[in-house]
Amino acid sequence: MHDHPTEPPPPDQFWDGFYRERDQVWSGSPNALLVREVTGLAPGTALDLGCGEGADAVWLARHGWQVTGIDISAVALERAAAHAVDAGVEHLVTWVQADLAAWAATDPGSDPGYDLVCAQFLHSPTELPRDRILHRAMAAVAPRGRLLVVGHQDFPPWSSHPAPEPPLPTAVELAAALQLEAHGWMLETAEPVPRTVEGPQGQLVVLNDNVLRARRGV
Ligand SMILES: C[S@@+](CC[C@H](N)C(=O)[O-])C[C@H]1O[C@@H](n2cnc3c(N)ncnc32)[C@H](O)[C@@H]1O
Repeated sequence: MHDHPTEPPPPDQFWDGFYRERDQVWSGSPNALLVREVTGLAPGTALDLGCGEGADAVWLARHGWQVTGIDISAVALERAAAHAVDAGVEHLVTWVQADLAAWAATDPGSDPGYDLVCAQFLHSPTELPRDRILHRAMAAVAPRGRLLVVGHQDFPPWSSHPAPEPPLPTAVELAAALQLEAHGWMLETAEPVPRTVEGPQGQLVVLNDNVLRARRGV
């Protein structure tokens, strides 16, 4: 008997397979920290990186934003598009199937950029150059626009995927890695936010999420 380690599937196949396992994976509600951080901002153009089934993009559109949602999974984007139709905001959202590892913000010389570029839980058990993507995301933000990154700090002990090693950066570490302040950005939020989640056996666990919101200078 030969013991060949299984090659991980390419990211698009992994995520399409992940979404196909269930008719709906996420709740359909927007992420609470997106709502917290965006409520009160004047709506404009927004780019949602790794938008999944589109709940955040749809929420943004319902609140007056003109949104582009990018994801690697065509399966997730089909659901996102249906969600936008159900919410009556399909004219406000553009869905783009793309691998963010190869994505670059459009020509910064000719493009005014987005008023908001956000990434909620842009994590993957497959290859994902998150820091590089977030660096590029900075270039996609318009002058005076905002970058919002919401992510995991802790992972549930019952998760089928191991917690990343080394651990994911805190919001403050991420801000430093992106050199936001050195590039003239103003840090508006950089903190862990505890969230109580229920495990498969009904156990309650407090997990921290990270939220980073920064505003680009002129
Ligand atoms: C944990 S899910 C989060 C989805 C959504 N933002 C949310 O909060 O519900 C991560 C998402 O990132 C997408 N993704 C992973 N790697 C990607 C890549 N290289 N390019 C584009 N999207 C990717 C996945 O398809 C998935 O929808």
